[in-house]
Amino acid sequence: MTAAINLVADIGEVLVSEAEIAAKVADLGARIGADHGDRPLTLVSVLKGSLPFMADLMRAIPIPVRIDLMEVSSYGGTSTESSGLVRILKDLSASIEGEDVLIVEDIIDTGLTLNYLLRYLRGKKPRSLRICTLLDKPARRLVDIPVDYVGFTIPDQFVVGYGLDYGEFYRNLRFVGVLRPEVYSSPPE
Ligand code: PRP
Repeated sequence: MTAAINLVADIGEVLVSEAEIAAKVADLGARIGADHGDRPLTLVSVLKGSLPFMADLMRAIPIPVRIDLMEVSSYGGTSTESSGLVRILKDLSASIEGEDVLIVEDIIDTGLTLNYLLRYLRGKKPRSLRICTLLDKPARRLVDIPVDYVGFTIPDQFVVGYGLDYGEFYRNLRFVGVLRPEVYSSPPE
């Protein structure tokens, strides 16, 4: 698969441009800051997909923030389908008890990952627990998720870029694009 990757040619359409992402991140950061007043906020980035969004969003929030990182992975599924089985690869590094917490995600698809994470993090007794996602794909939702901040609602297309991957590649694109179906119709080697 590695040799066949072509970051430009593999993209059929730019769904959300770099400029649109930048404007939305600025807007979300201002809203999050206004909603949380002077109380410090703990941002929990859900790796790996949220990495670029987290890096940009944290700098757009004009109030004190702490950051923490979790890495989760769904398993038992395929490269394009989530299974609902979630494994924690990296846990929080500090307590969030009594804290205002904002989960930062790149995309909500079936909602199964966040459904699991919400239950897990609620068990850590934060003062509040909210969700911010760059992308929302409601057509694929299997469980209802209370999302507080959404960047873009997108159609049911397989997207990559700005953190989102196919076979771990394409995360470094500056935009969100639709992957050509022929790229994922033959499974990664
Ligand atoms: C992606 C994404 C979300 C999840 C959304 O993560 O970052 O965490 O899938 O899918 P769902 O709503 O159907 O559960 P992935 O497991 O692909 O890991 P990654 O962030 O490391 O790419």
